Amino acid sequence: MKLRLALVGCGKVAERHLKILKALADEVEVVGVADVNPERVNLFAKELNCKAYTDFRELIKKEDPEVVDLAVPSGLHGKIGVEILGRFKKHLLVEKPLALTLREANKLVELSQKYNLKLITIFQNRANLPVRLAKKVISEGLLGRVIHLSAQFYWCRTQSYYDSAAWRGTWEQDGGALAQQGCHFADALVYLGGEVESVFAKMGTYLVNIPAEDLLVGVIKFKNGALGTITATTAARPKDIKAEVVILGEKGSIILGGFAMEKLNHLALAEAEALQRLNVDEFRENPPHPLGYSHFTYYRTAIKFLKDGAREDYLAIGQDAIPSLELIVGLYESAERGKEVKFPFRPLKTKLGRKNNA
Ligand SMILES: NC(=O)c1ccc[n+]([C@@H]2O[C@H](COP(=O)([O-])OP(=O)(O)OC[C@H]3O[C@@H](n4cnc5c(N)ncnc54)[C@H](O)[C@@H]3O)[C@@H](O)[C@H]2O)c1
Repeated sequence: MKLRLALVGCGKVAERHLKILKALADEVEVVGVADVNPERVNLFAKELNCKAYTDFRELIKKEDPEVVDLAVPSGLHGKIGVEILGRFKKHLLVEKPLALTLREANKLVELSQKYNLKLITIFQNRANLPVRLAKKVISEGLLGRVIHLSAQFYWCRTQSYYDSAAWRGTWEQDGGALAQQGCHFADALVYLGGEVESVFAKMGTYLVNIPAEDLLVGVIKFKNGALGTITATTAARPKDIKAEVVILGEKGSIILGGFAMEKLNHLALAEAEALQRLNVDEFRENPPHPLGYSHFTYYRTAIKFLKDGAREDYLAIGQDAIPSLELIVGLYESAERGKEVKFPFRPLKTKLGRKNNA
């Protein structure tokens, strides 16, 4: 039986979803697509041979999908997600981030639990082979005590990127380099490093005219004692430079690199025998288009989970998407307060997901 899926949001990232859905035609039936932009939705409906709607509620009422794939601006994930789970009682596959506020994200998790619905956030970089290797090495204790994790990405997003859609770079709908591009790296830090104890951050808007930041630098103390840092920027010029995640443990070290943690730049373990057993070469990748190249693998895995409940460890299901959002909100909160923020905390000053765009 094919899974009956509705796609809501036919913008840039949905172009990837479109290709994936075509490739998964034997497993998924796209029953309809929705977008407030008639031109986009008609284009997608034609490509996917299904009905077009400009109102997602109409789409759900008329076509009765089992799952909704949500690819609208980030600030709408919480609001539309609440309706999909709470009102229409459909499973939800949502593009990252799960929501922009912790309150909305927790509400989505709560509704999915209450109605026994599947809620999956698309953090496709978790499926990158080098990230899976890092997770395995840490989980098996091969690094021993982890003492340091750092994530830095130096990407280039010029004013024309931010001007390409009104929601980009706004606090209410998007956030800046950390929340939009950096949420993959925030996710990697907590996925690999565990719970956060406190954070301290500074941020600024340097090379573009947007309300949110294009550079944030943060220090993270993990509950297990490890010290971490994050440098999130879209202000590298004139083009993307690189991204890197560095992990140091008492018995070894790992560096993930490339542009989106798609490369294994370094792995050294004190136990030579462990290194041999890991078959490290099987985890090396060199994809031609590093940004989003694991979307297909992740999406297919999510579809399998939706169909028969078989899950891969790396899927971010329900609650799994909360810690990275908490880290992001905590870093913003610290930058706004001008001091360290200890977890758990009440976001009082962060503007992410809030109306005030000042
Ligand atoms: N996983 C990734 O690596 C990745 C990459 C890019 C974007 N994203 C996420 O995907 C989401 C969309 O980003 P994008 O770059 O495609 O944005 P986009 O602006 O290109 O597309 C968003 C689409 O949603 C539509 N839309 C807006 N309000 C709507 C509504 N109420 N109902 C239906 N459609 C509506 C818009 O008309 C637009 O076509 C964001 O949350 C972003 O963070 C994830």
